Amino acid sequence: MDRRQSLSYATLLLLLLSLVLSSSSSIAAAFRDHSTVSYDEKFAPLFAEFNIKHHEGGDGVDLHLNRHAGSGFISTDMYNYGFFSARIKLPGNHTSGIVVALYTSNGDVFGKTHDELDIEFLGGAPGRPWRFQTNLYGNGSTSRGREERYTLWFDPTKEYHRYSILWSSRSAVFYVDDVPVREVIKSEEMGADYPSKPMSLYATIWDASEWATGGGRYKVDYKHAPFVARFKELVLDGCATGPIRQAGAASECGDAHDELEATDRASMRRFRQKHMYYSYCYDVRRYPAALPECVINPVEKQRFKESGRLRFGGGHRRQRRKRSGRSRGSSPGVEAM
Ligand SMILES: *[C@@H]1O[C@H](CO)[C@@H](O)[C@H](O)[C@H]1NC(C)=O
Ligand SMILES: *[C@@H]1O[C@H](CO)[C@@H](O)[C@H](O)[C@H]1NC(C)=O
Repeated sequence: MDRRQSLSYATLLLLLLSLVLSSSSSIAAAFRDHSTVSYDEKFAPLFAEFNIKHHEGGDGVDLHLNRHAGSGFISTDMYNYGFFSARIKLPGNHTSGIVVALYTSNGDVFGKTHDELDIEFLGGAPGRPWRFQTNLYGNGSTSRGREERYTLWFDPTKEYHRYSILWSSRSAVFYVDDVPVREVIKSEEMGADYPSKPMSLYATIWDASEWATGGGRYKVDYKHAPFVARFKELVLDGCATGPIRQAGAASECGDAHDELEATDRASMRRFRQKHMYYSYCYDVRRYPAALPECVINPVEKQRFKESGRLRFGGGHRRQRRKRSGRSRGSSPGVEAM
């Protein structure tokens, strides 16, 4: 093979490789590979920079909450669909009133018509574990929360676990470690309530004493401060549409949609049967007519009360309903429970 020939072989190989890479979903690959990005390159402080402590080696940051402030960071780019992920270790002990969130949003750009995909941890009442929920908004649909709550099969304060959001034009999937826990399929029924504009990734810790635990009964106890939520191995794999100030610029992004495989669906079903203890779809008090995308499974429905909460088990004390305004960056979501 002469030099010219081998060069053209090399070109052909490169071409093939790039075809393969662009046609197969790079997002799915990212989930398997967990190819991480550097905090310094891709993120910036959102608020209270003095409460953001960089890990040695630069693989992430600790977000502190103390008497003075919580803290948060934001990706400097916005993404039109993508895979967003972090390994998180939550503060342990005396967590009431605290909210830790990993979410995508464009609330800073589209005030009244913002989109959001939320992974949120709400501090527990004294002696109780963290509570974990997912939620979403589209085009400013803040009057229609779509919260689901679940127990976890591990203690999120003991070790890091990966929490992820896979967002495409067709569906949004939330993951805990490798387990898909919720799939929201974009449907005609949901209309613009499905997030569709470029979003940034946010992470925050903040004081939500007013509502987060027992409807405000248990406040943050600063005797035990600082509260530290640790974030590392951040993944941002999507179509960047540029910095926030240029949001809305037309993008040429492909949409890396990836169907869940049958085994993923099976593990999602198992997770939901075992761990979901609240669903907005079964909360008849809040939504006398279920929101249009809800597929009511009559057998499953029997397991839930009118409040959308599991009839048996869960072991969570019932609390009075109370709702308060939005706070720093993230949504209070469903009434405290
Ligand atoms: C919580 O408190 C227990 C007992 O004081 C302690 O052993 C444990 O390390 C604490 N957990 C965290 C995450 O600080
Ligand atoms: C989003 O909301 C705005 C303001 O309520 C409305 O004008 C617009 O039509 C909505 N967009 C879609 C796609 O429904």
